[in-house]
Amino acid sequence: MTSTANTISLSLPTTHNPSSLSKPKSLPDFYLRFRNQNPKLTRVGISVTSPNNRIRTLSTIRASTASVMEASSKEKALPTIVEVDLGNRSYPIYIGSGLLDQPELLQRHVHGKRVLVVTNSTVAPLYLDKVVDALTRGNPNVSVDSVILPDGEKYKNMETLMKVFDKAIESRLDRRCTFVALGGGVIGDMCGFAAASFLRGVNFIQIPTTVMAQVDSSVGGKTGINHPLGKNLIGAFYQPQCVLIDTDTLNTLPDRELASGLAEVIKYGLIRDAVFFEWQEKNMAALMARDPSAMAYAIKRSCENKAEVVSLDEKESGLRATLNLGHTFGHVSSRLRN
Ligand SMILES: NC(=O)c1ccc[n+]([C@@H]2O[C@H](COP(=O)([O-])OP(=O)(O)OC[C@H]3O[C@@H](n4cnc5c(N)ncnc54)[C@H](O)[C@@H]3O)[C@@H](O)[C@H]2O)c1
Repeated sequence: MTSTANTISLSLPTTHNPSSLSKPKSLPDFYLRFRNQNPKLTRVGISVTSPNNRIRTLSTIRASTASVMEASSKEKALPTIVEVDLGNRSYPIYIGSGLLDQPELLQRHVHGKRVLVVTNSTVAPLYLDKVVDALTRGNPNVSVDSVILPDGEKYKNMETLMKVFDKAIESRLDRRCTFVALGGGVIGDMCGFAAASFLRGVNFIQIPTTVMAQVDSSVGGKTGINHPLGKNLIGAFYQPQCVLIDTDTLNTLPDRELASGLAEVIKYGLIRDAVFFEWQEKNMAALMARDPSAMAYAIKRSCENKAEVVSLDEKESGLRATLNLGHTFGHVSSRLRN
């Protein structure tokens, strides 16, 4: 192990082919443990070296030099960080309670001085002010516009998407602006696609507020809208700068949406994580009761699973399709119902 004031690197010898080794899942926890002892820590990495000196970086965590905690907010809980490892498009997922009260987490990922928050008529009265505060507190140079879209899957279409572009153009946003998606999967998919295509691509942040969006749709960069002939037929792969999951937002989520999101959590257990599935069997009552620590663990573990699949198959040429378990059936059944 080597370390400097802000870096810890673990280099391990291996007799295996380095490319056959999988990424360690515990790196974010490892990082946070050291970060507690050394607030200057900004980089942790694990690499392996084979006998013929082939080196492979298995996993790295980078954080900006700004401390995750400001001096005045030392008592605030540190977020759990899951890293989506996609080379120079890697990004962190911050998970925890009260994260919207930690403005430094969001602000470090805002590019430029202009922000457009995209949300809907249900989520805006609940969380828009909080998000504007998190973007601007102690940061008077940043100005925030917002666009409030109608709520519902039936509005995930070209006409509604145009309202985002109308607002961005009327507000004279330039390429250095940041789009922030505040809401469930519908808002995340639409805002992400708007960010991918406005001026050929602007900075993008996800603040998912449903379980479905926190464990699935906000992670991995699939964005898009529906066409009258089918779901999600128009879109782009476009990765955000960060995903910020404040688990407190789940307190206002209707039971039906909670259950729908937990189905996605179960999916990870079924397709690739038997140990997690066993944990779910023991903790389903706690999840249904929105127990904060059970919820945070389920979100973290789900994001780790999704991040791992996405980093192996970003554009869905094979493995990533396993994440669609049940979706095709669901789309057909909802088309038949409509
Ligand atoms: N991009 C991807 O990889 C991916 C993956 C899975 C699903 N999706 C997409 O996600 C969408 C479904 O997402 P969803 O299940 O989040 O639905 P949704 O976005 O429609 O949200 C469900 C409902 O909950 C409300 N809501 C959101 N947050 C709330 C909160 N904190 N408190 C109270 N109400 C809240 C919303 O306004 C909405 O009425 C679909 O369009 C689907 O295609 C995308």
